[in-house]
Order: sequence, then C-alpha cells, then structure tokens
Amino acid sequence: MSYVKDPVLADQGRLNLEIAEKRMGALMKVRERMAKEKPFDGLTIGMALHVTKETGVLVRTLVDGGAKVAITGCNPLSTQDDIAAALAEEGVLVWAYKGESTEDYYKFLNAVIDTQPNITIDDGCDLVTEIHTKHQGLIPEIIGGCEETTTGIIRLHAMVKDGALKYPMIAVNDNKTKHLMDNYYGTGQSTFDGILRSTNLLIAGKTVVVAGYGSCGKGCAMRAKGLGAQVIVTEVDNFAALQAAMDGHRVLPMSTAAPIGDLFITVTGDLHVIRMEHIDKMKDGVVICNSGHFDNEIDMESLESEAKRKRRVRHYLDEYLLKSGKVIYVAGEGRLVNLASAEGHPSEVMSLSFCGQALACEYLAKNRNNLPVDVITLPDEVDDQIAKLQLEAMGINIDTLTPEQVEYLGQWKEGT
Ligand SMILES: NC(=O)c1ccc[n+]([C@@H]2O[C@H](COP(=O)([O-])OP(=O)(O)OC[C@H]3O[C@@H](n4cnc5c(N)ncnc54)[C@H](O)[C@@H]3O)[C@@H](O)[C@H]2O)c1
Repeated sequence: MSYVKDPVLADQGRLNLEIAEKRMGALMKVRERMAKEKPFDGLTIGMALHVTKETGVLVRTLVDGGAKVAITGCNPLSTQDDIAAALAEEGVLVWAYKGESTEDYYKFLNAVIDTQPNITIDDGCDLVTEIHTKHQGLIPEIIGGCEETTTGIIRLHAMVKDGALKYPMIAVNDNKTKHLMDNYYGTGQSTFDGILRSTNLLIAGKTVVVAGYGSCGKGCAMRAKGLGAQVIVTEVDNFAALQAAMDGHRVLPMSTAAPIGDLFITVTGDLHVIRMEHIDKMKDGVVICNSGHFDNEIDMESLESEAKRKRRVRHYLDEYLLKSGKVIYVAGEGRLVNLASAEGHPSEVMSLSFCGQALACEYLAKNRNNLPVDVITLPDEVDDQIAKLQLEAMGINIDTLTPEQVEYLGQWKEGT
C-alpha cells in the first residue's frame, strides 16, 4: 500500500536511521518511556513531515508508543528515499519520494488522510488545510494536531481568525526548545550545507544577503559571519532590523542590497521577497536560494518566464541566462535549500524538535476532549523537560537553586 521510490534503498535507510538514533539521545529517552507506557494505543497518527532520518526516529518513537503511523512528505524535494524505503519495510504506511509532482504531493496527503488519523502532525499546515477543506467528516474523530514550523503557525492563526479551525492545534514551533534551537542553529548550519553542496562556493570574503532576521535568519547570518562573509540583512520589522544592526550586520532594503550581494538567502515566510526588479540589478554569477518554508519567497515564476535559457549545471543548481546576458544561479529550485540540496537539520537539533512533537502527541492523547479548539502551546514544564533531557544526553550538569536562593527569588521586600 505504501509508495516509495525504491524498496532496495531500505538497507541504506536503516544505516542512516541508526546514526540518527545515536545522535538523538533526548528523543531516545522519550521513546524508551513511551515503549513502556504506550500512550498512543489504539490511535492512528497521520503525518506530513519532511521524510528524513530524524523524522524516521520520531516515527519509530510513535510506533513504539502504540500508534499506527501513516506518513507523507511536506515538500516535494525533501524526502530521503532511503528513509522512506526503510520505514515502509518496517510496516509504516509511507507515501513519499524526492521530486514529487504537485499531483502526487496532494494524492499522498490524501492517502494519509484516508487512514482516518486521530492526531495529525504537520510541517506547513497542508494536512490540516486538506482535512478542513475536503474531509470535514473526519474531524469528530480527530483529537488534535501538532504544527512544526513558523509558516504553519501563521496559517493556523489565519484559520482561527476566519473561524475555520475545527480541532485543537499545538504550536510545537513555539516551544523554546524548537524555534530557538532548530530554526536558529539548525537552519543556520543546514542552509549553508545545502548551499555548499550545490555550489562549493567560498563564503569567506563574500557579501551574503539574508532576507528576514527571525530565528532562522539570525542563524543564517551568524553562520555566514562565522565563515568570513560580510552580512547584509533586509527586514520589514523595525525591532528585528534594529537587532540585526546591533548584531553588527548592515541593514538595507533589498533594492539597495541587490547590486552588492554575492549570495542571497530568503528566510521570511513571506511572498516574493526577491523579485525580477531585484534580480535585474544583481551582479553576474550571483547565487540565490531560499530556506523559508514555501517556494514563493523568490519569484521563481517570473524568473522562469523571463530567462532566455535555464540549465541544470550541478546538484540542484540551476543557471538562468537573463536577457541582459548575465547569469543567475538558483540553488534548490527556490525550495528549502537545506532539504532540497542537503539533508535538512542535523539529528542533534531535531532531537529537540521531535521530543516536542512526541510529547505534544502524548499531551493531546492525555487531554482529549479537554482542549480548546485553538492554537495552543505546551506547558512550560514540557519545554523544560526537553531541555533537561538534551542536557543529559550531552553530559552537561547545571547548578540547582539553594533553599536560600529559592526563598530570595520568591520574595519582594528585600531591596538595596
Ligand atoms: N529551512 C528550514 O528547515 C526551516 C526551519 C524552520 C523554519 N523554516 C521556515 O523559515 C521561515 C522563517 O521562519 P522563522 O522562524 O525565522 O520566522 P520569524 O517569524 O521568526 O522570522 C521571519 C522574519 O522575516 C521578516 N520578514 C517578513 N517579510 C519580510 C520581507 N518582505 N522582507 C524582509 N524580511 C521580512 C519578519 O519581519 C521576521 O522578522 C518560515 O517560513 C519557516 O516556516 C524553515
């Protein structure tokens, strides 16, 4: 019933899963407990997540916790075919391959929905949107859902505003152990992993333009600086722009940055942040890419229609010849470059994010029928528990408050 690219890839997939498990100590602790307590007995969990080795470890955690799991990708270019094959071999329902057509992408989302999930896990909100627009009959059996990324949370808040959301959604992205870790350190490193695999560009001495200075943009700017680049940040938010300036980056509008930059990275969650009016001003041979959730941050449609010629010149690197005679390189087809050109975030940081997903599913299962139909966050204790597990996995000890300190921090009378 599953659909994967090639079942023979399962051997490699199992090896990659084994490596990921070694590096996801915190999630493995959660898995050990869930294997005993079986919080998901009798439940079907439907997932639309990047099918990577780290997601594979999350799937194994949910299965050990008693769930039946059905999974598809959440981006046409992010599936690791070896992992999809390995999971299918283990009996998980998987529909995913790297390079999916739009038609297959939606067909696979619907295959997951056809398993009638009790809990949904999304990265970008496509599963929730499909259910709410086309399968409302399934909603009474759905306890709730979990959302992994900033863009998905934005869409969920828009649903609430429209009165469209019909089941509780946990904003896993809003855990501190998610957006201040995965978005920051994960996107920071893996975006450059993707850029380097596609281009082998020397970053030192280059001018790197980062569009958006949220958690992901901060991570990308930090890594660009660390690799020896001069960083320009573009923003639309006054405070974020101020933070970028105080962090030592140059802040400019995109139209001013366009003729200066050598490498452009969009990470805004916004539409058409790089447009033809910017591309026309760029230098010959620059590289542009996106690490935000959707492939609309760069106006790829206009680039496709206005370019005189397009050639694939390397691994996920396309060269566009413009009418002016200049060439522009696009890494990762304008989709998440860290997943299209590389393997996404490293396992260590995904361990944190996916502890969040596993514990959010458990929270939904334990609190079924008692949660508001809204976008909700997990209690702070859960976030704290995840941080503690990760510190343990890293072999790091910290101090504890003395009784005197506890008393001091709880009083208001003592001053200077
Ligand atoms: N590549 C990955 O693996 C990965 C991981 C996590 C999140 N994401 C995605 O990356 C995107 C950003 O996530 P985040 O957590 O950093 O979000 P965020 O909300 O923390 O930051 C986004 C920033 O972009 C700015 N922005 C919006 N429109 C802009 C424009 N037109 N020009 C310049 N700046 C603009 C906003 O002011 C904000 O500061 C989202 O789409 C998210 O889903 C990707």
